[in-house]
Amino acid sequence: MSVNPPIAMLAELTHRCPLSCPYCSNPVELTRRDAELDTATWADVFRQAADLGVLQLHLSGGEPVTRRDLVDLVVAAREAGLYTNLITSGIGLTEKRLKELDAAGLDHIQLSLQGTDAEMADRIGGYRGGFARKMDVARWIGEIGFPLTLNAVLHRQNLHQLPRAIEMAVEMGARRIEVATVQFHGWALLSRDALMPTRDQAREADAIVAEARARLKGTLVIDYVPADYHSDYPKRCMGGWGTTGLNVAPDGLVLPCHAAQTIPGLAFDRVQDRPLREIWYEGRAFNAYRGTDWMPEPCASCERKHIDFGGCRCQAMALVGDAAATDPTCIKSPHHAALQARADAFAAGEAAFTARAAAG
Ligand code: SF4
Ligand code: FES
Repeated sequence: MSVNPPIAMLAELTHRCPLSCPYCSNPVELTRRDAELDTATWADVFRQAADLGVLQLHLSGGEPVTRRDLVDLVVAAREAGLYTNLITSGIGLTEKRLKELDAAGLDHIQLSLQGTDAEMADRIGGYRGGFARKMDVARWIGEIGFPLTLNAVLHRQNLHQLPRAIEMAVEMGARRIEVATVQFHGWALLSRDALMPTRDQAREADAIVAEARARLKGTLVIDYVPADYHSDYPKRCMGGWGTTGLNVAPDGLVLPCHAAQTIPGLAFDRVQDRPLREIWYEGRAFNAYRGTDWMPEPCASCERKHIDFGGCRCQAMALVGDAAATDPTCIKSPHHAALQARADAFAAGEAAFTARAAAG
């Protein structure tokens, strides 16, 4: 099969983060600060990525703002010719630092929203005063003129705030809001009972998004990730394994998706050991689930196999213990009915969530 170059790279600069959101998709084994790639190595990775064909660089974490060299990293990315997007909670950003990032050439900011009021946001993020600081950051972002996307992860405890989250995006002048129902990877899997939306909430969110999309057409783009445990078909995870994007973890491991390390038996390369181009085209992990040849039934003979590529490999691993299985959120999976029953049982629970730990 012919393999196209990746379009986007997610650089997880660090796992350190001042917040402790229970929905975090970082691995439960967090990378320590002393294992993080240094500035020069990241700059080299950015050059290699641009040379490979990557156009967009997403600077992520943990909280990427905790990297003291963030401005230098943005300079390096811009010198490599990459479009740079900073994915942040805003905590740690000052007006001065934002101006420095603007001068360095940062193209876009994606600001996360844990809740639409201080009570919810500070409880979910585990950081008192965080909401007020985020609102300051949002104001500075508007004054400087960065293009802004608001990013709201929704779950059973804050889904009722979806209409207000959409309103806030409009008030902040955001061009786009990403409404993502929690995905259960990494830390989030530990809090599935506490975060799983109910079936009614999932349906209501579908309706709210549909109404808002029609009403705000031309003003705000709404990207929506529905609650897949309550859906009939899975999401096209990562746009298809090894087709459009790659992730580089804080310690240099190159991953086909952020949760790929949960799949036992996959061998990953590090940017310190092998050129990025070789990893993308020849790396064993990237080729493991590329295309459709690896698919078992029912995906192998399904008319949707080029639409969703069988869903999410990491979800199949987490839910049925086989990364090559049809994602059980698909109605054609033999595990689908049992999964939906489990989803309803999780959503009926009263469990408290597990806050994400701090990285050492
Ligand atoms: Fe997608 Fe496989 Fe389900 Fe078909 S059977 S819809 S390819 S997950
Ligand atoms: Fe790994 Fe979906 S998160 S394939």
